Amino acid sequence: MTVPHPSDTPATSQSTAPLRVVLGVGGGIAAYKAALLTRLFTEAGHHVVPMPTAAALEFVGAPTWEALTGEPVSTSVFDRVDTVNHVSQGQQADLVVIAPATADLMAKIAHGLADDLLTTTVLASRAPVVLAPAMHTEMCSTPPPDATWRCCVSTATR
Ligand SMILES: Cc1cc2nc3c(=O)[nH]c(=O)nc-3n(C[C@H](O)[C@H](O)[C@H](O)COP(=O)(O)O)c2cc1C
Repeated sequence: MTVPHPSDTPATSQSTAPLRVVLGVGGGIAAYKAALLTRLFTEAGHHVVPMPTAAALEFVGAPTWEALTGEPVSTSVFDRVDTVNHVSQGQQADLVVIAPATADLMAKIAHGLADDLLTTTVLASRAPVVLAPAMHTEMCSTPPPDATWRCCVSTATR
């Protein structure tokens, strides 16, 4: 999967077929970078469905994601139950990108935990998953993440 860099590709051109991208955003400082990533996907012609976690919304609020994408934001599987949102979003996604992926999200994904909209959507989707881990160096090099990383690699390469 190649996302064109804006310096390589004019904003109006498209180098791949339009994708429906579920953009998971974890609760870290780098959440603000996902707003830029949203713009890059959108300018490249892709449709972004933002899925910030509750912690991510502490960093960048729902209005930012909703205004950038035109999509409503929810963190709960109990919103929009008429559409069974996590299943429909997971099934419709061409690509799932989680950026930033917190240590918490990666551990959840590695172990199949599903306690919010993003993690249930990941389980419900058969689309490729791209993880962009972001955390302090000490958090990253603590032993438990080793098994987590390996599990996540198999998820991210499915
Ligand atoms: C200021 C601040 C910065 C944080 N940055 C990170 C980070 O970069 N990576 C990370 O894994 N957790 C970070 N955390 C901790 C997460 O916010 C916390 O583990 C949270 O429960 C993650 O929830 P989520 O995985 O559902 O988004 C940070 C917390 C705070 C208060």
